[in-house]
Order: sequence, then C-alpha cells, then structure tokens
Amino acid sequence: MMALRDKRLVAQAFSRAAPSYDSVAALQRSVADTLLSWLPLAPPQRLIDLGSGTGYATPQLRQRYAEAGLISLDLAEGMLQYARVHREARADLSICADAEALPFAAGSVDLIFSSLAIQWCERPQRLFAEVARVLRPGGRFIVATLGPATLDELRQAWAAVDDDIHVNSFVPLASLRACTAGAPLTAARELCEIRQLEYDRLNELMHELKALGAHNVNPRRQQGLGGPARLRTLAKAYERFRLPNGRLPASYELYFLEWIRDQ
Ligand SMILES: C[S@@+](CC[C@H](N)C(=O)[O-])C[C@H]1O[C@@H](n2cnc3c(N)ncnc32)[C@H](O)[C@@H]1O
Repeated sequence: MMALRDKRLVAQAFSRAAPSYDSVAALQRSVADTLLSWLPLAPPQRLIDLGSGTGYATPQLRQRYAEAGLISLDLAEGMLQYARVHREARADLSICADAEALPFAAGSVDLIFSSLAIQWCERPQRLFAEVARVLRPGGRFIVATLGPATLDELRQAWAAVDDDIHVNSFVPLASLRACTAGAPLTAARELCEIRQLEYDRLNELMHELKALGAHNVNPRRQQGLGGPARLRTLAKAYERFRLPNGRLPASYELYFLEWIRDQ
C-alpha cells in the first residue's frame, strides 16, 4: 500500500503558496465559477466552504446567501490568514481543520461547497462519512475535484526521466462513487470535462504549480526537481505534446458533483 501524504506538508505547501496563489489561479477561479452556478436556490442557514484557500468564493457565497452563517475551513492556516486580510468579504468563522475530521456537530450544516480541495484527501471514505455526519437530512455537498487524467502530459514526460512519483495522483470518479456507497448520500448531479491550459515553455507550467502550492508532496518524491540535465530531458519529453498552434498543453480532468444527504 502507498504511504499517505504528510498533511503537515500539504498544509505547509499551501500556506507558503497563499501570497502567490491568486496570481496563477485562473483555472481554479473558472472552476469555482462553474460550481457557484450549481448553488441551490433555497438559502442555507449554515454553509461551509471546504478547502476555502484564499477565499475566492467567499464574496459570492456571501452575496448569494446574505443571511447564512458562512464558515471557511482549510487545512492551511496561511490560506485562511491571507483570505482574512485580502478578501473584501469575510466568512463569519474561519477554521483551520481537516476535511476528514470536521469540527461540527451531526446534522448542523445545510450546504457544503468545495472547489478543488477534496483531491487532497487521501481517505475519501472518511471525508464522505464526515460530510454525511455533519449535513442535515436534505443538505447538499457540491464539489469540484480532479480526475486521474489531470497533468497526464507531465506525468508521461517524467516517466521518460525516471520512475519516481513527480505528479500527484487523483482518484477516478468510479472510486469516488464507491467511497460514498456506505454513506447516506445520494448522487444528484455529475459533470465531467477536460479543460486544457497552454504554455509556451514547460517551466511556466512548473512555476505555476509551485505558486499554487500544488506541487508534488507525495511520499515517494524527489527533493526538488533534479539537476539541469534531468530538466532538459523532461522538457524534451514534453515536446511531443506540443500542439499545432505551437503551444504546450496541460490537461485538467474536472469532476463537478453534487450529493444530497438522505432523509
Ligand atoms: C487548490 S486550493 C483551492 C482553494 C479554493 N477552494 C479555490 O477554489 O481557489 C486547495 C485548498 O484545499 C486545502 N486543503 C487541502 N487538503 C485539505 C484538507 N484535508 N482539509 C481541508 N482543506 C484542505 C488547501 O490548503 C488549499 O487551500
């Protein structure tokens, strides 16, 4: 069995990335915008932005549900601090906690919104069990997350260099569905799509991943990227993906999902 990621390293990587995150998070904003269009009409009393990061969704959640108690929850204290200082709207509470161990009473939450965060949870059964526990019957969990084809070009290019793990791995939709099988959650909506970003040079993508805090924190990773020779081999291997328009693609497999807590 693969060792689990060290959550302190995940929290550290995101806390460090907080000041640079927004400058490179165009895809993350477009994904959150899609997910915001899924918000239910019925206003919740209490909602959580799970893995809220720099708080991009906070003003829109605040505006949409002016009367609701809004909680930002994130593993990385640095992200929460950044959001408190830089966002024009604030959550009522911001809590540094793990999505797999939610600090809320059973049945106390009406809506959980989560954009591009749950792919960091390595025990999705625990996450779904926690979500099902804290949601009230009829409450909703709306989620955007990443599938295994994400950054596949980079994964394949690294395979030409060595057999270490350099790119985070993501769970397929079928496994996510299987993880909810024992939980009192019913799938209400699913949308899968690939969005492709383009770069002139590979180091632009590498810089972006680092600035997002989304670089590799797997247990079987190399410290750093290796010497210039390895990076040249990597860049050469990535060339085979170059598009007819002359640019390098980076694919993101996106899942937009909604579950309703059973009555
Ligand atoms: C890619 S950012 C997305 C942030 C924000 N939702 C957005 O759309 O810009 C992922 C966030 O999930 C947080 N995160 C990762 N693992 C988590 C966990 N187990 N529990 C709570 N938050 C977590 C990270 O600290 C980070 O802020």
